[in-house]
Amino acid sequence: MQRTLIILKPDAIQRGLMGRILTRFEDKGLKVVAARFARLSEQLLEQHYADHKERPFYPGLVRFMSESPVLFCVLEGVDAIAVCRKMMGATFGRDAEPGTIRGDFGVSRSYNLIHGSDSPEAAEKEVALFFDANEIVEWQPAGHTWVYDAEDLG
Ligand code: RTP
Ligand code: MG
Repeated sequence: MQRTLIILKPDAIQRGLMGRILTRFEDKGLKVVAARFARLSEQLLEQHYADHKERPFYPGLVRFMSESPVLFCVLEGVDAIAVCRKMMGATFGRDAEPGTIRGDFGVSRSYNLIHGSDSPEAAEKEVALFFDANEIVEWQPAGHTWVYDAEDLG
């Protein structure tokens, strides 16, 4: 089982897509183990996007991400990081395949609806940046054994 940090970005919230996007992850068998709705501070975003600091789009990215609330959550599941990235689609909506979140809901470069951790190292760092350890909730969905293979459940 893996955990990944997902952010439904300001454009997803403003466009009323929060429920529809979260439903896709629930339908796939991913489990929410932490969630919060808030406006992100520029300070937190500077840490989150530190790798992009020198990129030309960085100032606009921090402005966009901080100007309106987001929903951020930790999703847990088998191979959750790669599964979520695949469901998100390519970074820019116009390049993203139909059937993916970005492919189905957008055409923009900057307004691309969702963030997802891109590696186990990034996921660990991002989950710790957005949540305290005691905010992660351990629980078992009722239908778990009908979604996952027995060997995945351990
Ligand atoms: P994310 O980190 O948000 O999950 O997206 P990603 O891995 O697919 O894309 P990444 O290369 O990490 O870029 C981070 C975010 O920066 C914005 N961006 N804008 N205008 C542009 O050319 C441009 N390039 C990147 C996007 O919001 C992207 O998700
Ligand atoms: Mg990224």
